[in-house]
Amino acid sequence: MSTDSDIAPVYGTALTDVGLGEQAADVLRTNDMGGWTKAAPLLYPHQWSWDSAFVAIGWAQVDVRRAMTEQQRLFEAQWANGMVPQIVFNPLADAESYFPDPARWAVEVCPEAPVGVAETSGICQPPVHAIAVARIWEVARGTTDAEAVRTELRTLFPKLMAWHRYLAENRDPSGSGLVTTYHPWEGIDNSPRWDGVLARLEVGEVPPYVRRDLSHVADAGQRPSNATYDRFLWLLELLKRFRYDDAAIHEAYPFLVKDVFFTSVLVMANRALLTVADAVGATCAERAQIQTWVERGRAGIAATVDAESGMAYDVDLGTGAPIEVATFAGLSPLLDAGSPHRARALRNLDSSAFAGHPGLRWAMVPSTSPSAECFDPRNYWRGPVWPIVNWLFWRGLRDGRDTARAEALREASLDSLRHVGFAEYFHPMTGEALGSAMQSWTAAVALDWLAS
Ligand code: DGY
Repeated sequence: MSTDSDIAPVYGTALTDVGLGEQAADVLRTNDMGGWTKAAPLLYPHQWSWDSAFVAIGWAQVDVRRAMTEQQRLFEAQWANGMVPQIVFNPLADAESYFPDPARWAVEVCPEAPVGVAETSGICQPPVHAIAVARIWEVARGTTDAEAVRTELRTLFPKLMAWHRYLAENRDPSGSGLVTTYHPWEGIDNSPRWDGVLARLEVGEVPPYVRRDLSHVADAGQRPSNATYDRFLWLLELLKRFRYDDAAIHEAYPFLVKDVFFTSVLVMANRALLTVADAVGATCAERAQIQTWVERGRAGIAATVDAESGMAYDVDLGTGAPIEVATFAGLSPLLDAGSPHRARALRNLDSSAFAGHPGLRWAMVPSTSPSAECFDPRNYWRGPVWPIVNWLFWRGLRDGRDTARAEALREASLDSLRHVGFAEYFHPMTGEALGSAMQSWTAAVALDWLAS
């Protein structure tokens, strides 16, 4: 069995910054498919939406024009309703490399799908794209590439507007300011945040399937369980029955969560979109629209903050109750420099429940609090540290002018990468590399941190 770990570079001794930067650029080049980048060599052989945005941030430090192409290619698969799909399938990938495949998603049941343009899945992921595009512009401006990049920004800007509009309207029909997510694969796959909703599901008949992910990792303990996968696949069957129609899904579908992390990324992305709007000379009406989205998202998040703990909690629309699980999502106000709840969120960040936990190898944010009962340090989103999540918190700290904390997080993150390499995620206490090796987005954030 060949696993991504088999082709992992193993760093016995810590890399220097030059070594780290060179290796990170090599990871992007290895996974480059010519215009778009595989999320990882074997486990993720397609273009994933939020992976691709981070990857563009990394490419910006290697080749800024290539960074723009990464996003242009992704947006070619945008749905007519504005949704940017979670996966754009690679037609060259081995049919047995990844499941669920395009046939299982069958998005052609929805008239909004880009049939004939690209094969895609039928859900979406956190909207990091405008953050990436604003970062590309920041790198390009003042260089000889600036005007070429600005021309591409002009093509992309209306598509970004359509994407954010989709999230503001189709994913928030009640105007709460909070995005509704439909599936754990819309970001944080097997996070304990979803356990209650998934436990309530009555799983019907799921057509037979073979998990491909387990053949690409060293052991099954690093991935979601089979019972969880059955639920993931059952939700997919239901979405298909609803023909991926947002209005119908909001009426009767059993996994509807007002997602604080997804929404906070959207607030950060809308703030970044204002920078892109400046670069392309957007109209006053467009700028006002984006500003309204920022304020609505901010108010939506503020309404989820628990008065006692200061944690932002998702809301399970099935019960109307907050999902009180201690994960990094609870620190979401830190992603928005304008959030009124930052001070308390900073105390939570520094506390022993998160980056201040004495057992951590590096003072970074683990996916689930080590103090939580459900903490599982080797299992995907149930405890390990994800460098891309720490990049988002670093950006939020920097945007909020919390320079000392931002710098400490950047240093800790770079030190972890020098020792762990470009793993998908790692054990917070031991630094054991977990999941896929040569993960594109991990390499990408290393490149950005080195340049910052
Ligand atoms: C997977 O297949 O594990 C992905 O995370 C889904 O997006």
